[in-house]
Amino acid sequence: WAIHAPYVAAINKLKKERGAVVLAHNYMTPQIYHGISDVVGDSLALAIAATKVEAEVIVQCGVHFMAETSKILNPQKTVLMPDMAAGCSLAESITAEGIAEMRARYPGAPVVSYVNTTAEVKAASDICCTSANAAQIVAAMDSDTVIMTPDKWLAQNVANKVPQKRIVWWDGACIVHEQFTAQDLRDFRDWNPGLKIIAHPECPPDVVAEADYAGSTANIQGWVETERPKQVMLVTECSMASNISDANPEVEFLGPCNMCPYMQKITLEKVLWSLHTMTGVVEVDPKVADRARLAVQRMIDLSQ
Ligand code: 13P
Ligand code: SF4
Repeated sequence: WAIHAPYVAAINKLKKERGAVVLAHNYMTPQIYHGISDVVGDSLALAIAATKVEAEVIVQCGVHFMAETSKILNPQKTVLMPDMAAGCSLAESITAEGIAEMRARYPGAPVVSYVNTTAEVKAASDICCTSANAAQIVAAMDSDTVIMTPDKWLAQNVANKVPQKRIVWWDGACIVHEQFTAQDLRDFRDWNPGLKIIAHPECPPDVVAEADYAGSTANIQGWVETERPKQVMLVTECSMASNISDANPEVEFLGPCNMCPYMQKITLEKVLWSLHTMTGVVEVDPKVADRARLAVQRMIDLSQ
């Protein structure tokens, strides 16, 4: 922490001078999560928080699609992205043409797109979802067939929870979560009897089936804080356990985790530079933003 302290102090001072707030995802490094953020949360909480921001400047500590969502919801505000290259394998897996292709293949079926998509893809979709509300959103669709893009594993996990719908999906995946295998989980259980295993629903369904609970990053945190297991393995990005371990000292966090190379691009140094120079300004074509806002707002309305 000593080496981070000057950056944390400088950023917190600049935030006041610029009238800025930092919205940080649960996968940010502990120094960002604990040191400089005003709001932390999962993708849904950050989107909802973005609708309530009063500050004129939002610094998005997360990946690019999250900053775009903040901009879509705050077209008049300045949204800063400390590293424009902080992408997402899911967002990169589909374009608006891909949505059109799915609509042609399944005429009349509504398109539910994960928030891990570009503004153009959101604009071409009927509604968004996150890992926290995907099953609820799909169940609410007024159609037997529902198109889910772009995460095939999230779609299959939702299909298991909402059997009354025929869910068809795009072939995208999260490079962090698709690496876990059900065998990894079984091995860790064998080595640590009593271990609780919590997975993110971007993991393949056989991994989720092996877990004691699956949920969004905020729901994972909520589960740990409610259940207070002696030993737990979080089948997700590594920062998750680092960020919540301080507040849960009696819980032992075990097992492998995977780093998201995109999330890890966001550093204190880059946040400081972005705020100091006011560079990394996120722009979304206003016409695209207007259509994308409908899909995001529909999701928020259905989730509250
Ligand atoms: P949630 O925080 O919404 O669970 O999403 C995880 C994620 O993949 C963000 O990149
Ligand atoms: Fe995208 Fe996966 Fe990284 Fe989340 S963890 S930003 S879904 S690549």
